[in-house]
Parts: sequence; structure tokens; C-alpha cells
Amino acid sequence: MNREQHDDWNPRDATIQEDQRHAYDELRERCPVARSKFLGWSLFRHADIAAVLSDPETYSNASRHLAIPNGMDPPVHGPYRDALAAYFGHDQMEQLEPRARAIAVNLLAPAIAGGQMEFIDAFATPFVLRTLCAWLGWPERQWECLGGWVHGSQQAAFGQDHAAGSALASLFSEHAKANLSLHRAAPDDIVDATDALLSTEVDGKRFDDDEIVSVLRNWTAGQGTVATGLGILVLHLAQEPALQDRLRRDLTLIPAAIEEILRVDGPLVANRRVTTREVEIQDRTIPKGEPLTLMWIAANRDPRAFDDPNAVTLERSEEAGLVWGQGIHLCLGASLARLQMRVALEELLSRTTRVEISGAPPRRAVYPSNGPAALLLHLG
Ligand code: HEM
Repeated sequence: MNREQHDDWNPRDATIQEDQRHAYDELRERCPVARSKFLGWSLFRHADIAAVLSDPETYSNASRHLAIPNGMDPPVHGPYRDALAAYFGHDQMEQLEPRARAIAVNLLAPAIAGGQMEFIDAFATPFVLRTLCAWLGWPERQWECLGGWVHGSQQAAFGQDHAAGSALASLFSEHAKANLSLHRAAPDDIVDATDALLSTEVDGKRFDDDEIVSVLRNWTAGQGTVATGLGILVLHLAQEPALQDRLRRDLTLIPAAIEEILRVDGPLVANRRVTTREVEIQDRTIPKGEPLTLMWIAANRDPRAFDDPNAVTLERSEEAGLVWGQGIHLCLGASLARLQMRVALEELLSRTTRVEISGAPPRRAVYPSNGPAALLLHLG
């Protein structure tokens, strides 16, 4: 019998989805290269994933769908990435920070007055998407529409519902193109990220509308990851009152806490590659043209790479961490995501004396998301 024709695991099994982190920990030790119809060949060990990230020739990111720059390989990828990197610079983030802070304060005020909140729907999702709208120069009320798109796309991915996925992609495209038309028709003095996209050139040629939509789709999906990250951060702080108090007393520790909590409990489960030749990983032979998934959550908790991997240790060096990936596809939006999470935590912690989970421990979200599906909090 050919072992490679049979699934090693079922990623959508309820027992895996109930607690993705511990299920992936178990697979990393028992079957570190595991095949399934749903995810192809999943890699769980830090060293195997780091080796893939350092070899884009063998492990391709090329996508059937236009996906700039994440679905591109060298040499095409570099110029697109360089053109977009300029949007996430220090000055751009500094400009956005007061607006992100005002959105956070506005969303937190009623919850703090009432003493409780459901954090994901009442804060994390509207906060990240309203910040995205502010950055793009889109009307902030559009966040609800974008939220429906993020949620629907995640459900379509889990259900492998390709029809729903492409209907949602068309909906997003129409929505984004309407905003591009508005920007072209009524230019104002404020230069926002949409204006920048409309004037960006790669190899002397401006992006066409489909290229801009593909960039915006990736950025909007990234906001879903930030919202998940916020849910994870607040869940951990609610469960670890000593760490919560330490951060409240010294807000400058928040950036280190973000990196370390997200290493222990990652907001992004996996990304894909395709082999461009036959490869051998651990004891498995993977043919050319096969899909691979890099299981970030498992790699970031690998005891071969991190001492006491389950412990949140703010003093830990970030070097080995793969929260943002590594190599040529390292997260382009990390500065924006870090800004959003830092500002949200600064405002939440400085306006409360304690944040606690209200009721039973929260149910976890399913692939491709992670973290709490809902998070009922008591705020003191
Ligand atoms: C906590 C939130 C986030 C996490 C943990 C995260 C993580 C990652 C990871 C692990 C990768 C590498 C993917 C790979 O190697 O295949 C990546 C790539 C990327 N991320 Fe993020 N991301 C986050 C938020 C965002 C946001 C908010 C944006 C944009 C607004 C963004 C834009 C991108 C882009 C464009 C790439 C591809 C870069 C390239 O191909 O050169 N991300 N991200």
C-alpha cells in the first residue's frame, strides 16, 4: 500500500478545531510532515518551515489568482513588494496613530461605562476595519461591509465553498472599485493609501484596477488576522492578571508582550507553497507540484526552537519567531498590525483597573482563524 495516498489527519475534524494549538503540538511531535486532502502536506516543525522560507525557488508562492505581492515569485515579486513597502513606513504609521487611537477610545467608552463587553464584535472587528478605512480614506461606515466580507471569506475557506469564495471576491472587487472611482472623481488634499495606490508605478507602469483590488483584498484579509490577534492578546491578559497588571503599570512593555503572546498563540494558522521539484522533508518524499502548508502556530511553539515554548516571557529574543514569517514574503503589514494592537491595548489597559473573562472560557474559532470566537469580558 502506498502510504502517500492516504491522509495522515483531517484538519477539519472537530477535535482538532476545538483546540488547534494543542492538536498541532501533538502532530509536530508525532507526524511533523502530515498529508491531508484539505491542506496538502502540512509542515509543523520550526526548522522545516524555516528551510522552506529560505528557498523560494523550490517552494513557490505563485497563485492562480492575482495576489500582489503574496501570490508572486521572484523576480516579479520584488519590485511589487518594494513599491508597496513604502506605504507601511514610520511616517505613515505616525500619521495614522492618532486616528486609530480616537477610534479605539470611541469604541471603548460605552463598554467601560457599562462594565462589560463582547470584545470581538464590539471592539476588535470594528476597530481594525475602521482603522483600515481611515488609512485608505474610505468612509468609516464601510467597515461593516468589509467585516461581512472577511467573515464570509473565512467561512468559505473552511467549507472549501469555491462558489461562495468567488462570489465574495466579486463583491469585494465591486466595492473596492467604487471607492477607486470616488477617489478619482473627487480628489482631496489629504493623501491617503488609496491615492498612493492609484499613483504607484512598477517598472514605469501604474497598477490597473484589478491589481489594486488584489492588493486591497490582501490588506483587508490582514485586518481579520489583526482582529484575531487582539482577541488572543486580551484573552491571555484576562487569564494572566499578573502580566496584565505589569503591562498596565508599564505600557512600554506592550510591544514585547504582543510578540510573545502571539508566538504562544498565533492569529494566523498557515500559509501555502507549491513544490517546484521533488523534495524530501523528514522521512517523506513530496513530489513536484504538490501543495504545502506552513503551520505557523506549531512552528512558533516548537521546543526545538524555544525553551519552555508555552511560557510568555517578555525578555525572550524575537529572532527565531515566525509570527510574521521570514524571508522574502515577511509580513508587509506588520508595522500597521503592531500599531493597531499596541494602541488598542494601551487604551484598554490605561482605562481599566482589571479585565476579566465573564462566564465560561470562550469557544475557539476554527481554521483559517484561531483565538476566541467570542470573548465576553468584565471590565473594572
Ligand atoms: C497580526 C496580524 C498579522 C500577522 C500575524 C501576519 C502574518 C503574516 C505572515 C506569517 C506572512 C508570511 C506569509 C508567507 O510567507 O506566505 C505575512 C505576509 C504578508 N502580510 Fe501579514 N500578518 C498580519 C497582518 C497583516 C496586515 C494588517 C497586512 C496589510 C495591511 C498584512 C500584509 C501582508 C502582506 C502583503 C504579506 C505578503 C508579503 C509578500 O509576499 O512579500 N499582514 N503576514
